[in-house]
Amino acid sequence: MKALLLVYCVMKIHCFGLLLSFLATCSVVGAFEKGDVVVQHDFEGITASEMWNTELGPLVQLVANDKGGQALRIERKLDTAPSTMVRIELPAQSLRGSKIRIKATVKAENISAPPSSWNGIKVMLNTQGPSGNNWPQQNLPQGTFYWRAANYVASIPNDAERALIILGLEAVTGTVWFDDVIITIESKARPRPPTPPTGPYYKGHNSSRLRGAMIGANLKEKDFRDLAAWKANHVRWQLIWNGFPHSPADDADVAAYDAWLESALIHLDSMLPLCRQLGLHILLDLHTPPGGRNPEKQCRMFQEKRFQDAFLMAWEKMARRYKDESIIWGYDLVNEPVDDNLMDGLMDWRDLAIVATQRIRAIDPDHAIIIEAAPWGGPNALADFEPLPIDKIVYSFHMYEPGEFTHQNVYDDDASPIAYPGKIRGDVWWDKEQLRRVMQPVLEWQRDYNVHIYVGEFSAIRWAPGDSAHAYLRDLIDLFEENEWDWAYHAFREWPGWSVEH
Ligand SMILES: *[C@@H]1O[C@H](CO)[C@@H](O)[C@H](O)[C@H]1NC(C)=O
Ligand SMILES: *[C@@H]1O[C@H](CO)[C@@H](O)[C@H](O)[C@H]1NC(C)=O
Repeated sequence: MKALLLVYCVMKIHCFGLLLSFLATCSVVGAFEKGDVVVQHDFEGITASEMWNTELGPLVQLVANDKGGQALRIERKLDTAPSTMVRIELPAQSLRGSKIRIKATVKAENISAPPSSWNGIKVMLNTQGPSGNNWPQQNLPQGTFYWRAANYVASIPNDAERALIILGLEAVTGTVWFDDVIITIESKARPRPPTPPTGPYYKGHNSSRLRGAMIGANLKEKDFRDLAAWKANHVRWQLIWNGFPHSPADDADVAAYDAWLESALIHLDSMLPLCRQLGLHILLDLHTPPGGRNPEKQCRMFQEKRFQDAFLMAWEKMARRYKDESIIWGYDLVNEPVDDNLMDGLMDWRDLAIVATQRIRAIDPDHAIIIEAAPWGGPNALADFEPLPIDKIVYSFHMYEPGEFTHQNVYDDDASPIAYPGKIRGDVWWDKEQLRRVMQPVLEWQRDYNVHIYVGEFSAIRWAPGDSAHAYLRDLIDLFEENEWDWAYHAFREWPGWSVEH
């Protein structure tokens, strides 16, 4: 343990800043290990009182809490006043490439409605560096609530120069109390292998390339014939319970989930002979996992053990059912997993994927297992992911970069049209070369481990202006083909917004 200079500063944003520095001995410099505490504040004792004393001003005070100790109280009384925030500096350079877990307990009174969705009570990380600034946070409710946990995971970019934890009230009035702030290492930066393996890598199929689409949940014979007539040889078969990211699974128990899954598999079974006849290699995609997602869209199987158990049993059931089915290429264990809400004693996504793979392999040694990285399966999530210590795995990512273009006017319908190629997200010119740059970390990751890559989803909304959606899809497919990646377009006869037929 080495001493580290931590700077605590209370900023009255847009107004004046009070800057206080203290020496603290609560951090390790250099190599952090998984589980290490980076910073911890319980606001108890004389040291804490000296650190957070009344010099910080009347709006930020250490006060007695109603649990018998002290808490940090932050107020903002007037709508016209600057936001009230406290910043805790983290050792950014030692944290580069790792994920940290940010935990605090929070109580609030009379928090006004936030003017924008991101305003309100802040338990926020801010990272700063050449690749940009990020502000990951967990949204907390307005109004009045008793002690509750903020608990989430955020990534520290590889080029981070500063990392700050920000506590306070932004653009809302009211009073908030913080206690038991603790920042721990969730995972370390991925170690790159000194000598990457070479030679042919495992793909799990013998086609030169899988090209196809993710499909709607209830397609019939004619749909499959039409897709095959487009020369597709692959479908990503989404096992989806009536909606994404939210679905009836969010409120369903395990018995109801199992009943739904069985009904979805009965439909799949009925189409297997046709897919075999048409040469459509099927990837089973568990789009809706047991427990569904919580309001923050995190998978509930990282909160409740019964859903992790149900997940493992669901895959054992599917492995038994399909182990001899040659038209099935493999098993995509979870669509866009999010495990930021991991509860103590449960497996995180990677550990759960390892166990699921072992359970499947005990029954079905042959089919490929396809893994997406948490959170959300994007190119950066995969680039940060440490591959499983198991062979015959294909790794997958979904490509919707830049989201401002691909998802334009999906969630709000009056934003101005965004064209591709074009200037998107500030001053960046997005064209094929920019798409290549965004996917370069995946290519480097692939080279590190000599594994096969599958693009399980990519798309652009059909109302993107002019020829934009076509140009974007064409450039992406060119790049996938150049890299010898298999791909599935999102989506064939599912939602009209993602359809190339509308
Ligand atoms: C919240 O509002 C109520 C009703 O106006 C008031 O009595 C109470 O003191 C307020 N709480 C705080 C902490 O300001
Ligand atoms: C691919 O071909 C090899 C050699 O013929 C065969 O052993 C293997 O089972 C085939 N794999 C698949 C997934 O069909």
